Amino acid sequence: MTDARVPGDKSISHRFLILAALAEGDSRLSGVPASLDVASTISCLRALGVTVDEREAGVIRVARESDWRPPLTPLDCGNSGTTARLLIGLLAGLGVGAELGGDESLMSRPMDRVVYPLQAMGARINYADRLDRLPVRLEGRASGDLRALRYRPRVSSAQVRGALLLAALTGRQDVEILDRLRPRDHTERILRSMGAPVVSEAIGSGERVHFPGASWSGGLAPLDATVPGDISSAAFMVAAALLTGTELAVRSVGLNPTRTAFLRVVQEMGVKTEVRESGFEAGEPVGDLMVSPSQLTAFVLDGDLVPQLIDEIPVLAVLASRAEGISEIRGAGELRVKESDRLALLSANFRALGVRCEELPDGLLVHGSSVPLRGVVRTGGDHRIAMAFGALGAAPGCEIEVDDRDCVNVSFPGFWDTIGQFVAVEEAP
Ligand code: S3P
Repeated sequence: MTDARVPGDKSISHRFLILAALAEGDSRLSGVPASLDVASTISCLRALGVTVDEREAGVIRVARESDWRPPLTPLDCGNSGTTARLLIGLLAGLGVGAELGGDESLMSRPMDRVVYPLQAMGARINYADRLDRLPVRLEGRASGDLRALRYRPRVSSAQVRGALLLAALTGRQDVEILDRLRPRDHTERILRSMGAPVVSEAIGSGERVHFPGASWSGGLAPLDATVPGDISSAAFMVAAALLTGTELAVRSVGLNPTRTAFLRVVQEMGVKTEVRESGFEAGEPVGDLMVSPSQLTAFVLDGDLVPQLIDEIPVLAVLASRAEGISEIRGAGELRVKESDRLALLSANFRALGVRCEELPDGLLVHGSSVPLRGVVRTGGDHRIAMAFGALGAAPGCEIEVDDRDCVNVSFPGFWDTIGQFVAVEEAP
């Protein structure tokens, strides 16, 4: 049995840091990963006047010792969509003026999904250059003049929900969000653990989230928490284990049920998985994840589950390429506006390696085989494309070179060393 650990969860880290900056008192956070996306959130918070300092044994203290201050230069969100979208919501609620930008990939991603509802709440946000794209400029205004919002997002997104909750929290206004499908619910869980009365209610396969910001006069309790391991990073370890016939245990990983849906697909492929919950960190379940390899069979993925495994689709597609049969992925058009157009890059790379794959407007058909796969993968600077094909490279008979190995540092510094532990136990026929 191979034991693995993965860096702290990126989604949870962004939220721990931002919400700690809003708490009444000092927060202590352990296990914050040294990944570039999280570093972007930390540097933006510092530019806004928040103290984020590293203490003994990797503990980070977060505190706000003075008022939020408008940053002197534009905030650089790097490659991180979560940093940009959550901070736009936060600053809209606070009424702090700022400009936000990012790297080339982030500047090509849609921002209207957060800007439009925030404008409907009364925030003044303008696009500096192109509609729907960074850079955006928020005008400073008196906090507390936002309007209440009841909103049905076109895309069910945790970043949209997080941005609206942060605006309502800091702007002291009511918000109600009605999502058609359930995205990851970290913002709501962490806020509740800090004392905020956020209500979530399942409605069919969707969800209603309500925060009565106008009448809530409480404050947020500081956090003293350890970031659970990132289950999305663990998914690459799981894939490498399945492709090399290795029994795997990933320790102290986040087991939030809105993040574990990829395990259902892996089970549908014929794999035995087990999760053992051992506790909670700020409302987030944590524990161990075990998988036992077996022959993989094709899967069909469509619809309701997609928001809960959106980041795992590249690695599921890679597993599909080594499974028996043709796997179908549909309802995943959002993959075209992630760090890259993931559907286009997955299919181009599969074809370059010798995997039969058809690209659909909102998905892929992947033909599994056991033929040796050889070639160079183009990542487009996308960490999850690099890691998905990195895991495939561990499979027997596969020799895969990745054109940009460093982009994994966006979420998983140390990925290549960790993946190097997986050595195929049998050669391809
Ligand atoms: C994230 C939400 C997801 C996910 C992203 C992280 C978050 O995006 O793909 O990697 O931390 O809120 P969407 O909100 O666009 O689905």
